[in-house]
Amino acid sequence: MTYKNLLIDIENGMAIVTINRPKAMNALNEITLTELQDAFVNCAEDDAIQVIIITGSGEKAFVAGADIAAMQPLTALEARQFAKLGHQVMRTIEGCPKPVIAAVNGFALGGGCELALGCDIRIVAENVKFGQPEVNLGVIPGFGGTQRLARLIGKGRAMELIFTGAMVDASEAYRIGLANKVVPFDQLLDTAKAMAATIISKGSYAVQFAKEAIHNGLELDLDRANQYEAELFGLCFATKDQKEGMLAFLEKRQAKFKGE
Ligand code: CAA
Repeated sequence: MTYKNLLIDIENGMAIVTINRPKAMNALNEITLTELQDAFVNCAEDDAIQVIIITGSGEKAFVAGADIAAMQPLTALEARQFAKLGHQVMRTIEGCPKPVIAAVNGFALGGGCELALGCDIRIVAENVKFGQPEVNLGVIPGFGGTQRLARLIGKGRAMELIFTGAMVDASEAYRIGLANKVVPFDQLLDTAKAMAATIISKGSYAVQFAKEAIHNGLELDLDRANQYEAELFGLCFATKDQKEGMLAFLEKRQAKFKGE
C-alpha cells in the first residue's frame, strides 16, 4: 500500500496509518479521504492486520480539519459530495471489523475531530486540542460531527462545542469522555501500540463481534440490541478460541488464541 498523503507501517499484527500532509497540518482533502478509504478497505481484508492505529505526522496536528482551501470555492452540490466522501470514510472505519485506535497528536479540529470520533478508541497527547470550529467559517460540521459528538459526549456539551467553536484541551477532553487516555506526546504511539498488543492477544473473533455488537446495537432499541448481542454471543461458540479460552480457564493456564 503506497499513497501520496498516507504512510502505512505494518508491524506485530497492527497497521499504523499516518496522515502525512504536514504543510497543511494534515488537513483532509479529496485525495487524502480517498486514500484513507482505500487503506481501511485494504487493512480490513489483510489477515496480517488485527488492529489499526491512525495518527497524524509531526507533533503539531493530528488533522486540522477538512481542507479549507479546497472547500472555499465549492458549489453546494460539490460540498454535499465532499461531505458524503467524509461520511463514507468514517463509516468504513466504524464498519471495519478490526478495532481502530486514534493516536491524537495536537490539533484535532473540524474533520480531524470527526475522524477521531469515527475511531473506536481515542488516546491523546497532552498537547491535544479538540474542536468543531466550523461556525467560524460559516458552515457546520460535515463529516458526522453533529451526530457522533452528541452521541459520545451528550447533546448539551456537543451543542456548546459546535455553537461556540471552542477548543478543549486534553484534561477537558478526558473529563467529558472525548479521550480514553491522556499521555505525554513522546509516549503517544507506544501507548497506542501497547493497547493494540493487548487487544491482539485476545481472541480476534470475540473482539470483532464485540465491536459489531456495540456499533450496530447502539442504533437499535434495547430489546433488538440485546437480541443482536445474543446472536453474536452464540456465534462465539462456533470458534475454536471460545473452546480454548474457557478450557484454559478451567485448566488454570493462559489461553492460546489462534483467531480460529
Ligand atoms: N485546511 C487547509 N489548510 C490548513 C488547515 C485546514 N483545515 N489548517 C491549517 N492549514 C494550513 C494553513 O493554511 C497554513 O498554511 P500556509 O503555511 O500555507 O499558510 C498551515 O496549515 C499552518 O497553519 P497556521 O499558520 O494557521 O498555523 P497556526 O499554528 O498559527 O494555527 C490552527 C494552527 C489553529 C490549527 C489553524 O491553522 C487553524 O485554525 N486551522 C483551521 C482549523 C479549522 O477551522 N478546521 C475546520 C475546517 S472545516 C471542516 O473541517 C468542515 C468539516 O467538518 C468537513
